[in-house]
Amino acid sequence: MKTFLKVVGLVVLVIVALAAIGVSYLSLKKPAQRPASADKIEATPERIARGEYLVRHVSLCLDCHSEHTMAYALPMKPGREGVGGFVWNQQIGFPGVLAAANLTPDTDTGLGKWTDGEIMRAFREGVDRDGKALFPIMPYGHYREMSDDDAMAIVAYLRTLKPLRYEKPAKKLDVPLNFIEKFIPQPLAGPVTSPDRSDPLKYGKYLTQIGACSECHTPQDDKGRPIPGKEFAGGFEMKTPWFRVVTANITPHPSTFMGRATKAEFIGRFRAFANFTAETAPPAPKGKNTLMPWIELSGMTDEDLGAIYDYLKTVKPVDNPVNSFPDAK
Ligand code: HEC
Ligand code: HEC
Repeated sequence: MKTFLKVVGLVVLVIVALAAIGVSYLSLKKPAQRPASADKIEATPERIARGEYLVRHVSLCLDCHSEHTMAYALPMKPGREGVGGFVWNQQIGFPGVLAAANLTPDTDTGLGKWTDGEIMRAFREGVDRDGKALFPIMPYGHYREMSDDDAMAIVAYLRTLKPLRYEKPAKKLDVPLNFIEKFIPQPLAGPVTSPDRSDPLKYGKYLTQIGACSECHTPQDDKGRPIPGKEFAGGFEMKTPWFRVVTANITPHPSTFMGRATKAEFIGRFRAFANFTAETAPPAPKGKNTLMPWIELSGMTDEDLGAIYDYLKTVKPVDNPVNSFPDAK
């Protein structure tokens, strides 16, 4: 009996020791990464202009990294561009606390001390300047396909933002998310070349990718993975502390807007929001406020929206009826 208890005790001890080693391994583990590039990005006027276009109207960086008002389609608060602001927490069903960071050049609370290479690595490869993982709500998985030229333009533009102080709430992820996030970042293997802009389908696919449309429009399973076969099919419920909204099906199925719309009608949906600002946007129709970044995307050129339209018309049609506004009368 005594020997038996000793053996059981030993086994328990070994299991506890292995578990402890496992947990400390996971706590210390750094995500896969490569050193950030040491190159300084030359801030030419063309580059800054391209960066502004991408940050504000295509890649939607300010959508998460700014404060918003509650008017229709959530216009940005003027003067707070890039300061961060969106917070994911228990109130909206997030297991922990996660805040969009301050992207302004403030030296204490923003990107002032980051090198150009560190910023580029963060938004395409998913690690911060200390090599710690960023949580993939920050859509680096989409931005990794962004060309080096476009990524450099984004950094050049971010450097021109007005420095603003804002200390974001501390990040805290519940177990096991805090461990899982470390396995997601993947370093880029080499240079990313620019897509061929003369081919609208290819360029449309590229813009759809760096616009992260599928991040919201492809429904996810309970582990946050896109559901195969449902690319762009919508039905993903998004919650804010103020309202909820369900993403639309933007596959060209005949039952959807995307299936029926002409290119002009498609572009028109965006243009309808073009003059919305914090001052001018009307209140949202009852139960119909939205997280669809209509206002930001309305600043895209006809050519670029048209290329996205051409591309979305080629994705697999999925029969998935969606009511985007379950709380509307
Ligand atoms: C869907 C929301 C969202 C969008 C869109 C988004 N971000 Fe983020 N970003 C986040 C969140 C959330 C974090 C914090 C992640 C963390 O702490 O793990 C973050 C962190 C970062 C960081 C790290 C900063 C730091 O202090 O740690 C950088 C740099 C960054 N984002 C740049 C960008 C750029 C550039 C774009 C556009 C190309 C962009 N982000 C678009 C949500 C977003
Ligand atoms: C932050 C989440 C989010 C992102 C990113 C996003 N959308 Fe949406 N989108 C929504 C939601 C939610 C709706 C439904 C509510 C509405 O119509 O305003 C929607 C609706 C739409 C509609 C209207 C479809 C219909 O049937 O009425 C189109 C078109 C659309 N999105 C296209 C796009 C494109 C193109 C992109 C990328 C450039 C994109 N969306 C990125 C959340 C998003």
